[in-house]
Amino acid sequence: MKIAVLKEGAPGETRVSATPETVKKFIALGAEMAVEAGAGEHASIADADYSNAGAKVGDRAATLAGADIVFGIQGPDPESLGGAKPGAWIVASLNPFGDRPKVDAYAAKGYEALAMEFMPRITRAQSMDILSSQSNLAGYKAVLVAANEYGRAFPMMMTAAGTVSAAKAFVMGVGVAGLQAIATARRLGAQVSATDVRSATKEQIQSLGAKPIFVESVKGIEGEGSGGYATEMSEEYQKAQAELVSSHIAKQDIVITTALIPGRPAPRLISDAQIATMRAGSVIVDMAAESGGNVEGVVAGETVVKHGVKIVGAKNMAGLLAADSSALFSRNLFNFLSAFWDKEKNAPVLDEEIGDAIRLTKDGKVVNARLNG
Ligand code: NAI
Repeated sequence: MKIAVLKEGAPGETRVSATPETVKKFIALGAEMAVEAGAGEHASIADADYSNAGAKVGDRAATLAGADIVFGIQGPDPESLGGAKPGAWIVASLNPFGDRPKVDAYAAKGYEALAMEFMPRITRAQSMDILSSQSNLAGYKAVLVAANEYGRAFPMMMTAAGTVSAAKAFVMGVGVAGLQAIATARRLGAQVSATDVRSATKEQIQSLGAKPIFVESVKGIEGEGSGGYATEMSEEYQKAQAELVSSHIAKQDIVITTALIPGRPAPRLISDAQIATMRAGSVIVDMAAESGGNVEGVVAGETVVKHGVKIVGAKNMAGLLAADSSALFSRNLFNFLSAFWDKEKNAPVLDEEIGDAIRLTKDGKVVNARLNG
């Protein structure tokens, strides 16, 4: 059972899908590990660290030759996988809704593509959940980026020259990233408030010492779909939410938006007119920028200034913490495959619940219900 760990090809991708720690663990399990030279460079892992852990480090062709499983952070270019075994598993974050042509190409080439972001949100799969591990770090980093862009301080400071007032931070969308953003902004000394459509988050916001800002006027809305994810809200709710946000946002210095709805464009939460009511020098970090954006006018990967407000279009925030995000992603992959490792076959054998959820392609076809539905 040979596992190939590739050097990421996407521009700006700093992470790597295995670390010396997980290389050792996979070898102990019975796998042979091959790592493409330079794969860990941006995550501060040298080729020698992989060799010392027992991996064979070589060029891409040698790494892929005879591979049963190919690891990636992002889905590797289907054209660049020559040498991998027919039917090899591609295990990575594959962006199935955003990059359907790539999924079709994996199918056409006969690979079995497993999308780690489709891991079901069930208790036994928590340790395999790349969305959680990466969002957590991203939520932390988003606040640091906001603090960096902000021309004022976060904490209240009483100095001989006068008092600096605390920043007011508002977190919109309180999933994994949002919760970490609240905790981080609080640690930095900001006054924090937060909102979500899922009413279950209210208590979580309070338990972190932040103030919940919720639409109470529209009845019968729970906002929670399957797997703990949000659903798209009614027009009535969206209108009430926009009114509530308008009055609140005008008083905020920092806004972090994280709202996502799986398989759909990100909901629009902040309009240009609302940005115009904010104080000049305020900062908005839109963590949904790559999924269409929560903020009007946001550009993924860039910082734009509108009405004196800086709008940061967050892109791969987890990649700004390459060492930690690689370590957690790699452990997610190990926790996943080791849970299904069949000792006699010396290979992972997936069960239906998880296999069917994450498998996108098999035997030349796209087989996932979420893509075919
Ligand atoms: P996400 O990244 O899909 O969305 C981020 C947040 O945006 C969510 O809290 C969502 O409710 C919110 N949102 C969506 N539309 C909105 C709108 N119009 N206005 C305001 N907020 C909006 O969510 P994430 O971080 O993946 O977590 C979703 C849930 O899944 C959480 O309850 C989390 O605890 C749960 N979860 C469960 C796991 C498990 O059991 N294995 C693992 C990870 C998360």
